[in-house]
Amino acid sequence: MAFAVPVWLAVQEELLFGEPETINPGSATPSCFDSFTDEELFKVFHLSRPCITFISDAVRNRMKTSDFKRPAPSVDAMVMLALNFYAQGLFTPSVALKLGTNHRVSLTTVVSTMSGVIAGMSDVFISFPLTAEARASTASKTEELCGIPGVLGVLAPAHFKIRASPYDKSTFKSFINVLGYTSVVSQLICDSEGNILSVEKCCVGSTHEQDMWDSSFKGRQVEDDVHGAFRFIGGKGYRLSKHVLTPVPQPANDSEIRFNEAHAKIHDVVQTTLSSMKRRFKCLLQLGFADDGSLNKKSNIIKTCSVLHNIAQKFSIPFPPAAGQTEPPYSGKQCSSVEVATEALKARQELIEKNFGLSKRLDPLD
Ligand SMILES: *[C@@H]1O[C@H](CO)[C@@H](O)[C@H](O)[C@H]1NC(C)=O
Repeated sequence: MAFAVPVWLAVQEELLFGEPETINPGSATPSCFDSFTDEELFKVFHLSRPCITFISDAVRNRMKTSDFKRPAPSVDAMVMLALNFYAQGLFTPSVALKLGTNHRVSLTTVVSTMSGVIAGMSDVFISFPLTAEARASTASKTEELCGIPGVLGVLAPAHFKIRASPYDKSTFKSFINVLGYTSVVSQLICDSEGNILSVEKCCVGSTHEQDMWDSSFKGRQVEDDVHGAFRFIGGKGYRLSKHVLTPVPQPANDSEIRFNEAHAKIHDVVQTTLSSMKRRFKCLLQLGFADDGSLNKKSNIIKTCSVLHNIAQKFSIPFPPAAGQTEPPYSGKQCSSVEVATEALKARQELIEKNFGLSKRLDPLD
């Protein structure tokens, strides 16, 4: 974690709420979360009370600055319903009942409204390290973990199951991913501690990760040196480049084997992050029906859960235990484009020799 929690919160609060005196710490006003015990809060929302209070305050402040005037039901109640849905993938009847019968609102409308608001907070909660100091600190933590220097984050396609209508044959086919199920896919980048640095795009499941990277906002920035000389770890589905570091396809000696092991270790972080996210936010296990026209809504839910994931990380909230079968991790299909710049190949070889070569054999890396 970059900062101890209180410092980080102070920074976010300033960004979200402006003048410190406008904050109402501890919200003395009654909230619909008061009737839950701490244990129930974790069970129903997979979050803690301070974290939920923080989220409610952030949402309330966001909504104050936009067009929403005195929304009914209350913001708290809407946050409660939405967080319940994200955590469980459905509405727990006892939670929905707390809303009372005065409000004739559709639960799904509440969730899509909340997702719009929370996804909009990604500008504050999801970002690359931007100062030289922050980049250096992120890279040094990664190096500590795996021994590869100059790495800011790990890049991967994140697949989310959806239902698609088999009657529309061509659309249906486009949703089938390399793992054989229908999904939408986003581009996820996280740091070595599992904080999400970027999430963008929401494409049909058959989209190849390299194509997403080539057309993504962050991909272009990174390849255009906007984020400095740093690299990102990518699986074998990506093309090796100046800024994307892939494993050696056929390791020929110990140095390359050691490098691939280090690569796998750090690459694992993004897979673990994704599966932990799906444990905390079960709605991600099945995003419901999709067609070409509804990808924006799916994108909002994915972004929302990414924002909430980063907030939960800062509050150090444990993940709910894994239940049932877990999805197989996606390691990538060998990138078929042969056009790897010799420049990039040479740079990777140098990195391997310098950091994983013979002279490093006795290094107590493990
Ligand atoms: C390992 O193999 C690569 C590729 O063949 C080669 O360039 C490199 O020099 C080798 N390193 C060692 C230490 O033998």
